[in-house]
Amino acid sequence: MDHFQHRNGRLYCEDVALDAIADAVGTPVYVYSTATLERHYRVFSEGFEGLDALVAYSVKSNSNVAVIRTLAKLGAGADVVSEGEMRRALAAGVPASKIVFAGVGKTGREIAAGIDAGIHQFNAESEPELEAIARIAREKGVAAPVSIRVNPNVAAGGHAKISTGKSEDKFGVPIDRIGEIYARASAMEGLAVKGLAVHIGSQITELAPFEKAFAAMAGLVSELRAAGLAVERLDLGGGLGVPYDGRPVSPSPADYAGAVRRATEGLGVQLIFEPGRMIAGNAGVLVAGVTYVKEGVGRRFLILDAAMNDLLRPALYDANHDMQALANADREPVAYDVVGPVCETADRFSAEKTLPRLEPGDRVAFKTAGAYGAVQASEYNTRPLVPEVLVNGADWAVIRERPSYEEIIARDVVPGWLLC
Ligand code: LLP
Repeated sequence: MDHFQHRNGRLYCEDVALDAIADAVGTPVYVYSTATLERHYRVFSEGFEGLDALVAYSVKSNSNVAVIRTLAKLGAGADVVSEGEMRRALAAGVPASKIVFAGVGKTGREIAAGIDAGIHQFNAESEPELEAIARIAREKGVAAPVSIRVNPNVAAGGHAKISTGKSEDKFGVPIDRIGEIYARASAMEGLAVKGLAVHIGSQITELAPFEKAFAAMAGLVSELRAAGLAVERLDLGGGLGVPYDGRPVSPSPADYAGAVRRATEGLGVQLIFEPGRMIAGNAGVLVAGVTYVKEGVGRRFLILDAAMNDLLRPALYDANHDMQALANADREPVAYDVVGPVCETADRFSAEKTLPRLEPGDRVAFKTAGAYGAVQASEYNTRPLVPEVLVNGADWAVIRERPSYEEIIARDVVPGWLLC
């Protein structure tokens, strides 16, 4: 459930009309709902009540400091994949003791920063990385907390580009080598090996692949323990997929929690979760303005002022985000080919979308744009980075400004030899 609803013919985010935000900030603009973020975090965490569980919100899905802080205030930890994300999480008030640092290519500088901050754990993905973490920790005279990410060779994920759990993917160490690698790491000076981690992919809308991966992980915990190794933590990775085309998807967070409980019952480990999309996805929309309606051959193009640089998901993953008009929902329905102004054929949001008849100046909202939306935006075509707004009841605030053209151009430096 989200808090984007029509009232008296206008689309609202909580108690604020999206039109009012668009009038003040301009379009395109991302708008997030505090109540939805909070609700999703609560529903997810409640599934694990009574268990030793850390919900580390996956900052990559929406890394605005105000969004992270909204969740941190409810007790969320953070799953980060770069020094930048770690700094954002810390700036948002997430205690270092609730930060998990993942990623296949942590640099020496990032490892040192994580150790200095005192994070909960690194999720290490290879033997060279384990060696690097151990060496840097030894130089600092400490033992770095580490869990080892397993590649369970389970196929899952909404799209080939976001599936991570197959052996041909770059992630984790192969499941059949984990015993040997875990034992070696446990004996390494500079490491405090805490447990295992897994993440099979994103936008997964069925329970079976999770169940398969969780069962494999539970089996590994027992195997490692039988070999005399300590396993205190089990990180089960990202959360469920979300509905993009308006149709509800199963399973529910409660189904997911049930699967976790069944697989891990009696293991006596701390469970760690890294949900991103299911927390932030439905908590945000991208509001865009209609620039032109163009009659093509056998189709009608709706040309928006938002483009692939603002919302990359349709171009990159063939995602089809549900759309709504901000007003005039009672006009007759029309099928549109929805596109942006960028000079690429890939700058198309949807081949056929039925919306109430729209005119230049009208506005639309792309739903389910709170996760992997603003974070993947760029300034391609020198289009200013899309701004972000956070709504809280009847209150709202710009949480990232749209840069001016002067600011954008001032970032480029013309070297001395070109100045004369
Ligand atoms: N943990 C790890 C190790 C991950 O790689 C990811 C996502 C997550 C957690 C969070 O997964 P979630 O709960 O959000 O499914 N840009 C793509 C999604 C990339 C996901 C990458 N990893 C998209 O827009 O669909």
